[in-house]
Amino acid sequence: MNVNGKKYTSIWIEKDNRVFIIDQRWLPHEFKIVELTTINDFAVSIRDMWVRGAPLIGVTAAFGFAKSMQYDSSDKSLEETKSILLSTRPTAVNLHWAVKIMYELLIKADQDNRAEIALGKAKDILKRDIQSNNQIGKNGYEIIKNIINKKNNDKINILTHCNAGWLATVDWGTATSPIYYAKEKGANIHVFVDETRPRNQGAQLTTWELSHNDISHDLIVDNAGGHLMQHNEIDLVLVGSDRTSSNGDVCNKIGTYLKALSAYDNDIPFYVALPSSTIDWNIKDGVKNIPIEERDPSEVNYVQGRDTSNNIIKVDIAPERTKSRNPAFDVTPSRLVSGLITEHGIFDANYASLQNLKKLSYGNI
Ligand code: MRU
Repeated sequence: MNVNGKKYTSIWIEKDNRVFIIDQRWLPHEFKIVELTTINDFAVSIRDMWVRGAPLIGVTAAFGFAKSMQYDSSDKSLEETKSILLSTRPTAVNLHWAVKIMYELLIKADQDNRAEIALGKAKDILKRDIQSNNQIGKNGYEIIKNIINKKNNDKINILTHCNAGWLATVDWGTATSPIYYAKEKGANIHVFVDETRPRNQGAQLTTWELSHNDISHDLIVDNAGGHLMQHNEIDLVLVGSDRTSSNGDVCNKIGTYLKALSAYDNDIPFYVALPSSTIDWNIKDGVKNIPIEERDPSEVNYVQGRDTSNNIIKVDIAPERTKSRNPAFDVTPSRLVSGLITEHGIFDANYASLQNLKKLSYGNI
């Protein structure tokens, strides 16, 4: 998507297969590009959220294998690469999905060919991410179009949480992809962006990408959504997912569940956009079984921003001795989900419907 009129993806390959990312820790204040070279670079960039968002961390992990195999393609290195990458973040299943694909392919391959095979597969995974998200945009546009038709072509207001934008994927995003597609089609669209405490991915990332792509939007505090819904200011809630269970429970950034409850209470459609790689076919009960990342409590007590001298600083907002809890994700039960927008179409959030998706998506990379 666009940054100051120039096309970017969140991760890309340059000459000699050098891997570059946008270092998202500094947005929206500074736009920094970083090259990742060692397996440690890849692991740190995922763990410390230089890159984040479920699909993007899967793609980054795939390139971690490629670089690691370039330096040392032994079995020992392959095992280490797998365990280093798996230890970075626990919730987004796309990471596990990509690691499994890479590992199972490489363990069977001759050591001398591993570097080349790994690079080829990582490039496939990157390409597939762009294609899937693009298709999610087209599929999700149908929902937007229906609402616009019902409103006699009046403006549609969409609420989103966290950043399920192109920065969370390679390009297009998941929840934002139907929005970008609708904009291309000339829809009159407005987005309410939850700030998404504690790390403020909405305030810092979603607003940034919407601004650079000319999408009308307002930033709101996390607790404003329910109020706006009660006053008919939201037509649709559209979010992404980090892991969706086979019965359609959706794990996404902390606070998503409360938005789903408000949407349900106000009879507002609540859709989740996700590539099929975000479905964990081994988990049936998302609330019970999806592992929820607990991040450093300091993210709750400190907020990052820019001071009047343009320095990026962290300020504390709570008494020094106050302890915090920082669960980073929550699970929205399938009964609150109107539908799942995937690259293969829109599916009901239940086991039977997702079995049809499984037939279309399984093993196709
Ligand atoms: O902790 P983050 O920033 O990695 O969390 C990201 C989200 O919760 C996104 O909504 C999710 O990955 C879906 S993105 C396409």
